[in-house]
Amino acid sequence: GITRHYQFDIQMKNVTRLCETKSIVTVNGQFPGPKIEAREGDRLVIRVVNHVPYNISLHWHGVRQLFSAWADGPAYITQCPIQLGHSYVYNFTIVGQRGTLWWHGHISWLRATVYGPLVILPKTDVPYPFAKPYKEVPLIFGQWFKADTEAVISQALQIGAGPNISDSHTINGLPGPLYNCSAKDTFKLKVKPGKTYLLRIINAALNDELFFSIANHSLTVVEVDAVYVKPFTTETLLITPGQTTNVLLTARAEYPGANFFMKARPYSNGRPGTYDNTTVAGILEYENPYSFPPSSFNKNLPLFEPMLPSMNNTSFATNYTDKLKSLANTRYPANVPQTIDRHFFFTVGLGANPCPKNKTCQGPNGTMFSAAVNNVSFVLPKTALLQSHFTGKSSGVYTSDFPIMPLIQFNYTGIPPNNTFVTNGTKVLVIPFNTSVELVLQGTSIFGVESHPFHLHGFNFFVIGQGFGNYNPDKDPSGFNLVDPVERNTVGVPAGGWVAIRFLADNPGVWFMHCHLEAHTSWGLKMAWLVLDGSLPNQKLPPPPSDLPKC
Ligand code: C2O
Repeated sequence: GITRHYQFDIQMKNVTRLCETKSIVTVNGQFPGPKIEAREGDRLVIRVVNHVPYNISLHWHGVRQLFSAWADGPAYITQCPIQLGHSYVYNFTIVGQRGTLWWHGHISWLRATVYGPLVILPKTDVPYPFAKPYKEVPLIFGQWFKADTEAVISQALQIGAGPNISDSHTINGLPGPLYNCSAKDTFKLKVKPGKTYLLRIINAALNDELFFSIANHSLTVVEVDAVYVKPFTTETLLITPGQTTNVLLTARAEYPGANFFMKARPYSNGRPGTYDNTTVAGILEYENPYSFPPSSFNKNLPLFEPMLPSMNNTSFATNYTDKLKSLANTRYPANVPQTIDRHFFFTVGLGANPCPKNKTCQGPNGTMFSAAVNNVSFVLPKTALLQSHFTGKSSGVYTSDFPIMPLIQFNYTGIPPNNTFVTNGTKVLVIPFNTSVELVLQGTSIFGVESHPFHLHGFNFFVIGQGFGNYNPDKDPSGFNLVDPVERNTVGVPAGGWVAIRFLADNPGVWFMHCHLEAHTSWGLKMAWLVLDGSLPNQKLPPPPSDLPKC
């Protein structure tokens, strides 16, 4: 591989959407941010300079960061944030991965405006396991707030309520024609009849899982989270925040000059708090192969509408995720751990904290919304966990007593328990190098049935099973798929159900795991794994770079 250098200047920029202008944090003044492109095996050296009066930090979502935990980026987990006037060089190699990933801000709600694609091409001369597309196009979904997003989350945390909803969803930063004042900000994908396009789809939305569909066209899914899958054809995708999906789209020969809507809107599942139930539309615009001026030719043709599942269509979600399977062939094997060293069971979901005496709180029954893994709502420390661990100064920063079972015996009945209170703390789960882990994530759905897209840093995992209701340790493992389960970095814990994953902890460091709905992360739906060094010299995390930011 080669070394590729990028310079990311974090700058404020005025951006107008929905007829209102606000100043947002950007990379190099671009919104969405610049695309990073590399090949498998390349080294990326990204110099990030902070010119804004906020603390910032960037994360390379889905990059394995093998033995390079210092470059992972979540603030207060692997590094202290980069302060105004300071810089940090993220330096890492792409090992054994190719496909679509992305990068985003990883402190508070910075990722609302600070995100972009990270495209990893296969090594030179290595073809895709599908016919070479005519063109490749990134499609990033986002959410636009007219208000300042830092104000939105800090106000929500003050009163313990759900945050205000966004004003639109976006495709490549554009809300599209279904919103007032926005027709001119419409994403258009121009295609030639007969050609096949690879859409690199990324869900960067803060708080919404999305369905996506293009009228009159089916999509062939070929990869998720930078891992090839057995191709399958679908009319509609489901993509949670944090996930990526590559699809092939064939522009049909019989449609010259026609226009079709593409739309994305939430799979919301009656989520408590609030979510934005609006729809973003873009346009698939066929080139006119004749000599008519395209504008006059297009005008008379209808704009076809895609069908999307209803907003709480959980059976669609289950059917869709069931179709995802690893290629699992000799070239791209699925290295599913066949035996496990440790089994863990985590409950994940919302809960509450008591309202402080001097306050009025707007969470459930006058409490403050919170969220927890095994009843522990994670409190971010004041200094970075990885640094504290590496220098042997963990005292007062974190404790190593993350509970391996829920603190309160869990039984999903659909009726909220009497006590929904969480405990609060900075607890990590320590495991030895090369532990083979099986983890069941059980949704609690205490305040309503909801799904949670869980993301693990530093690893891909295999999704070996999922189901509804309570996970049954006597019955459910017999149905686990250990042959060709999908391999990914973000998985939806089904609404009112559970998901089982396996991974090999072959990467020393402190690795964040959290719900990728930003509201839930803010409420504490997160935890950290501490994977210890192995005993051999090549199984140890190298020392931090000298420019690692200080808190
Ligand atoms: Cu995409 Cu911890 O993040």
